[in-house]
Amino acid sequence: MKLKFLKWLYPQKIYVSKIFLILFFISINIGCSKGKPPLMIIPDMDDQQKVKPQTALHIPPEETVARGSLEENKTKLEMTPRNISRGDFLFQTYCMPCHGNDGEGNGPVVQRGYIPPPPLITGRVKGWKDEEIYNVIAEGQGTMPSYKHLVSSKDRQAIISYLRKKQSEAQ
Ligand code: HEC
Repeated sequence: MKLKFLKWLYPQKIYVSKIFLILFFISINIGCSKGKPPLMIIPDMDDQQKVKPQTALHIPPEETVARGSLEENKTKLEMTPRNISRGDFLFQTYCMPCHGNDGEGNGPVVQRGYIPPPPLITGRVKGWKDEEIYNVIAEGQGTMPSYKHLVSSKDRQAIISYLRKKQSEAQ
């Protein structure tokens, strides 16, 4: 087929076959769509997983707790052997330096001049509620600093379990 207008564009004679023209128009039309997904020969990134703004549920990342939802200050004492031995370990790590191995208040820090704390096993703490001990660990008391950031809620409960066991043995 001779195309006269192409002759005008290009000085050379250009012949375009009918088949080429048909394929050309088909290929243009393939990409067009009227609401429906077009036939995709090379989809590129047209179809991809995405979340549109304001449509996603806010699912918190794993192992996180929303602010204000933490079950703080609730002492659930589990006097299991495992919890008690963990409490023992934690006591020797965090409390022993001042309160001493036996909780009598003569740990190595005290021997070097720190204010001696009152006894934990034989002292008045015996009559305290679990929550009171929990709060002293969390917030500190007098010259005792707060251990909130080092001793988690669960660990505080483990320490209390250990102290309770020691107190009952000391009777
Ligand atoms: C840096 C030293 C130090 C460390 C470590 C420490 N305490 Fe104390 N604690 C003290 C002192 C000093 C007091 C007395 C504070 C006051 O009443 O002026 C005290 C008081 C307490 C009391 C209150 C006792 C009472 O009769 O009033 C409890 C309970 C207690 N500590 C528990 C713990 C536990 C459990 C740990 C470990 C997580 C711990 N403490 C770690 C120094 C320490």
